[in-house]
Amino acid sequence: MGAAAAAAVLGLLLLGAAGGAAADEAREAAAVRALLVRLLGPGPAAAFSVSVKRALAAESGLDTYRLSGGGAGTRVLVLGSTGVAAAAGLHRYLRDFCGCHVAWSGSQLRLPEPLPAVPQVLTEATPNRYRYYQNVCTHSYSFVWWDWARWERELDWMALNGINLALAWSGQEAIWQRVYLALGLTQSEIDEYFTGPAFLAWGRMGNLHTWGGPLPHSWHLKQLYLQHRILDRMRSFGMIPVLPAFSGHVPKALTRVFPQINITQLGSWGHFNCSYSCSFLLAPEDPLFPIIGSLFLRELIQEFGTNHIYGADTFNEMQPPSSEPSYLASATASVYQAMITVDSDAVWLLQGWLFQHQPQFWGPAQVKAVLEAVPRGRLLVLDLFAESQPVYIQTASFQGQPFIWCMLHNFGGNHGLFGALEAVNRGPAAARLFPNSTMLGTGMAPEGIGQNEVVYALMAELGWRKDPVADLEAWVSSFAARRYGVAHRDTEAAWRLLLRSVYNCSGEACSGHNRSPLVRRPSLQMVTTVWYNRSDVFEAWRLLLTAAPTLASSPTFRYDLLDVTRQAAQELVSLYYVEARSAYLRKELVPLLRAAGVLVYELLPALDKVLASDSRFLLGRWLEQARAAAVSEAEAHLYEQNSRYQLTLWGPEGNILDYANKQLAGLVADYYTPRWRLFMEMLVESLVQGIPFQQHQFDKNAFQLEQTFIFGTQRYPSQPDGDTVDLAKKLFIKYYPRLVAGSLWAD
Ligand SMILES: *[C@@H]1O[C@H](CO)[C@@H](O)[C@H](O)[C@H]1NC(C)=O
Ligand SMILES: *[C@@H]1O[C@H](CO)[C@@H](O)[C@H](O)[C@H]1NC(C)=O
Ligand SMILES: *[C@@H]1O[C@H](CO)[C@@H](O)[C@H](O)[C@H]1NC(C)=O
Ligand SMILES: *[C@@H]1O[C@H](CO)[C@@H](O)[C@H](O)[C@H]1NC(C)=O
Ligand SMILES: *[C@@H]1O[C@H](CO)[C@@H](O)[C@H](O)[C@H]1NC(C)=O
Repeated sequence: MGAAAAAAVLGLLLLGAAGGAAADEAREAAAVRALLVRLLGPGPAAAFSVSVKRALAAESGLDTYRLSGGGAGTRVLVLGSTGVAAAAGLHRYLRDFCGCHVAWSGSQLRLPEPLPAVPQVLTEATPNRYRYYQNVCTHSYSFVWWDWARWERELDWMALNGINLALAWSGQEAIWQRVYLALGLTQSEIDEYFTGPAFLAWGRMGNLHTWGGPLPHSWHLKQLYLQHRILDRMRSFGMIPVLPAFSGHVPKALTRVFPQINITQLGSWGHFNCSYSCSFLLAPEDPLFPIIGSLFLRELIQEFGTNHIYGADTFNEMQPPSSEPSYLASATASVYQAMITVDSDAVWLLQGWLFQHQPQFWGPAQVKAVLEAVPRGRLLVLDLFAESQPVYIQTASFQGQPFIWCMLHNFGGNHGLFGALEAVNRGPAAARLFPNSTMLGTGMAPEGIGQNEVVYALMAELGWRKDPVADLEAWVSSFAARRYGVAHRDTEAAWRLLLRSVYNCSGEACSGHNRSPLVRRPSLQMVTTVWYNRSDVFEAWRLLLTAAPTLASSPTFRYDLLDVTRQAAQELVSLYYVEARSAYLRKELVPLLRAAGVLVYELLPALDKVLASDSRFLLGRWLEQARAAAVSEAEAHLYEQNSRYQLTLWGPEGNILDYANKQLAGLVADYYTPRWRLFMEMLVESLVQGIPFQQHQFDKNAFQLEQTFIFGTQRYPSQPDGDTVDLAKKLFIKYYPRLVAGSLWAD
């Protein structure tokens, strides 16, 4: 079978599964109407008429929407081939006809009156079968403490952005617990196995066990409840939820019950020792493999139903025990076999991350073994980091298996302005035009959300476009106008500067990890180079402040002003650090003291204050969410510790130190600042005493400070304090003249 034919088979297979019954159409239309009421309120929502007709997509089979009507006295008619298509059509109308904006940081929904007419019936079909969303890690970095209210907002955002394929990963440990109990494990063996909530993503991929656990009973109940609501809402929109499946990783305790089983202990992961990693992998030919795989899937489907797509990752960032293609093929086939034993329509969604993460292991023969172990059309690969390291190019379009071109963009939910908009813009169209391309969709797979929304706005739009956006400068200008509800010369100029700098990442220094010294444990070797001209950020900062008198009442503007101020502060930290370091290396005490003083006693406290003025940048809010997920003080304590660890040391010994760094009020004051203070003090001491600076000693002392933060029980404000515009302006007035004068010192 040719690649295109395989892709077509998959498309048909799934279209069949989506059903075409009038009842489904009515349910999806009702779900979008309810979304509209949540978004706009009942009054404005009444000016729309939403309906769903599968027939709209008859020819292409691809999600399609049609907009018409509007104008004085006429309702806006939104017709979609699915609920998701209708929601995407609605979003298109709000965006392009009304100049509105819907985003994580807030929405700008001032509707013109009357609602603008759609001059000519507008019919738009997506060029691809799928718009995918989520990364396994997003569940830990962003979703971990969410309640239903927050999930509901996210699902609305997903529908409006036309997402029709997404992980539905909650509650799986509750199902696993049933399976393990049925297999004869004790509750305490299970408790020892699961990670804590903030580390479940890595437990699910077999990278970790035990760390941050155990999972309380109430956790399972709450997650089951959430999963039912999430699935119900996804399906009501006509989205396809992807459920988990068995990948081969098992608790060690299984060997107590089944002493004969053939398991292999894998190597350690992420600098964790084997108390927390070195997963046990069940051999593919072990008779228990299909039994566990089908027990789990049966129990899962009985609880949640299914839409026939399942995710599983056996070797994600894990070195397989053998590079023999026959072993890899058999390990892969066994996962798939267990799926189809239970669900003969099963399609396996595989994160293709492993191939580009360990290219030295995954040579052509190894990749081929995995891709060919599953019938064509039954393995759907996420080319997870395609904006930067596309795998489809090296693998002849995944050897004919269908794939989804995904933008990963963000690591660890880091703040820090970053994006490769040019690469993102060109990527999907190029992948579609690749010879014999099996691309079936576009996707967004960030490790964490709630940052750099411009990147996600572009990617979501690309899910509905055949061609790249022709003029990104014009595109960001209109993005800014919609986001603030006003076209403003200065904000548009600011956004054009951001586009050509932080959002035009390319080359070596380009990374979705925030490597700013601000959020890293200090040393004398820190890298301060960035891929952009810092002046562009400072100039964008100035331009936003210039627009502040006009736009101060816009919540999204205030968010961006804060975010750019935060970025400017991050840049300033690098500049003062460079000053301090070179003063130290020249053995000049006074300039060292001067730079250290500004960084530790002026800049960082001022940044903390700015962050404190917005609820999205509060450690207190972050920790409060964690505690609110608990039902007892002991659980609240566990969850708070999980949260504090994830933000900082990640593991007990700083195993993945500062990977998931964030810039939050409270975290800057009580974590980053003490570390910087200690560093500067040790540099000063070194000069005064004439003894060399000992990085090793500093690291040890810093670790004490880091632990002090983690084990601290201080409560932080969960309500914002202070006026963002005033605070941003104060920082600006102090530092901008120094930047322009080319001297970091006040005159
Ligand atoms: C792993 O590290 C933890 C925490 O640092 C320690 O308590 C434990 O003894 C270590 N386990 C092994 C097997 O080295
Ligand atoms: C255990 O599994 C490995 C990997 O599949 C296999 O190579 C080996 O022969 C198996 N050992 C036994 C005793 O079955
Ligand atoms: C595309 O597929 C055709 C038919 O299988 C094959 O002849 C051709 O070589 C392929 N092109 C490329 C660039 O792989
Ligand atoms: C982004 O950078 C590339 C060079 O790396 C340049 O060709 C392109 O014009 C830049 N785009 C924008 C919008 O500045
Ligand atoms: C950075 O931008 C500033 C202001 O536009 C300019 O003066 C400077 O030459 C630029 N620096 C580099 C390295 O391009």
